[in-house]
Amino acid sequence: MHLAIIMDGNGRWAKKRGLKRIEGHKKGAEVVKEITEYCANNHEIDTLTLYAFSTENWKRPKMEIDFLMKLLDNWLKKELDTYIKNDVKFETIGDISKFSNKLKKRIAYTKEVTKNNKKLTQVLALNYGSRDEITRAVKKMIEKNEEITPENIQKNLDIGRDVDLLIRTSGEIRVSNFLLWQIAYAEMFFTPILWPDFTSEELEKILTEFKKRERRFGGI
Ligand code: FPP
Repeated sequence: MHLAIIMDGNGRWAKKRGLKRIEGHKKGAEVVKEITEYCANNHEIDTLTLYAFSTENWKRPKMEIDFLMKLLDNWLKKELDTYIKNDVKFETIGDISKFSNKLKKRIAYTKEVTKNNKKLTQVLALNYGSRDEITRAVKKMIEKNEEITPENIQKNLDIGRDVDLLIRTSGEIRVSNFLLWQIAYAEMFFTPILWPDFTSEELEKILTEFKKRERRFGGI
């Protein structure tokens, strides 16, 4: 199954503790590691897509954006071992062309080293927005002179795989331009827990609930 998560609430987590917002992102990155390891060892989950940086996040203060970019670079360097040990393949969606050369190289290197890993594909959404993704897909189709059909649109998206389960943390009940095409038939769970407090136990509870839901995909 394809699990997608909107990791929200890092800033509020930090504020509650009288810390700077970036401390929330640091703790959030540790949770990314825990959840990735959990998913790699859960046989039902083969794809985990995480919303790490949206096309709208450029509106944040430059200092916070710079911190997030640096955190990502350091994190990919430090956690390469985690990807290898847990047999996790690393991929990205979104338009990373605006990122620094250093970060682009790190991303390409991590993809290359992990490309044959099998247990889990972890997809980071980086400078990702669903409307941007769909627009880019349609542009590609026009360039290739492809017929406009739902199947062809899906094939040209950054990720063609439908989402089975979407989770958003921090109590916000919104989708925020994440995987709009791919969540057409997804089950959705919204938890009040802030991302830095999210745990694999919490994820396990949601997975148990998910299994109880009857998915009809428009049938009866
Ligand atoms: C949402 O919290 C989180 C983000 C915009 C960034 C997500 C980043 C991480 C979880 C850490 C880095 C990830 C990796 C893969 C190294 P927010 O800042 O919107 O929180 P708020 O809504 O409480 O302000």
